[in-house]
Amino acid sequence: MRILICDGPRSIGESAAHVLGGALRRRRRPTLGIATGSSPLEIYGAFARGIEIEDLDLSRLRAFALDEYVGIADDHPERYANVVDREVTTKLGLDPANVSVPDGASSDPDTAAERYERQIEDAGGIDAQILGVGTNGHIGFNEPGSPHDSRTRVVSLTAETRAANARFFDDISHVPTHAVTQGVGTIMGARTIVMVAQGEAKAEAVRHIIDGEVSTRWPGSILQRHPDVTIVLDEAAGHLLEFAGQYRTDAGYPA
Ligand code: F6R
Repeated sequence: MRILICDGPRSIGESAAHVLGGALRRRRRPTLGIATGSSPLEIYGAFARGIEIEDLDLSRLRAFALDEYVGIADDHPERYANVVDREVTTKLGLDPANVSVPDGASSDPDTAAERYERQIEDAGGIDAQILGVGTNGHIGFNEPGSPHDSRTRVVSLTAETRAANARFFDDISHVPTHAVTQGVGTIMGARTIVMVAQGEAKAEAVRHIIDGEVSTRWPGSILQRHPDVTIVLDEAAGHLLEFAGQYRTDAGYPA
């Protein structure tokens, strides 16, 4: 694991974009795994400014979203298909035909989830996966207890996750109770992973994920077993780490 503590949102976005760009540039038909939520917005902003993608052929980029709510209205601004369209496809000028989001509106979401898993496999897997992290340590919508070998499937959202995401809805009762998410095993199949976390609310999860035991209680802790993971943090998210001083990008340590 490589860990960077950056001094602000812009440098978080650019540091993450740098690692992702390096992983994508090596591939002939690159596949990018995208997360929604607030954490990765600075990465998409950096890409939109042309940072690290200047020599990438974006017309060949395939993108796969991590997750989608089940039972959310098609035109709801927080439906992840709409978020991805707004924040990624449009900003980066991707071909919408090359961008996939799990189908949360299917009448048979279990089969739709299996189909999504196969789509990722058929595309040759994910070259570079962007992750945020929940306050409970979730990655994608793999909540505590999610098996390490889980694949794309329908899950229930915990009360903690629904409360955290209530800020995007008029009222917590409008936050969906279920989602389709890539599994922990699916995410671990990505060749390169970049996780970003900002803010004090993430500090405890970040500490468990980096300094704690690998366990299903803190789903992101499995990343310790992945050979190519970079975690990019701000000071508030990283300050509880035992070796925080070594991860500060201005500390003079090798990154
Ligand atoms: C979103 C996702 C989630 C979020 C996490 C953090 O596609 O899979 O795991 O990354 O809930 O959300 P933010 O960034 O909004 O704090």
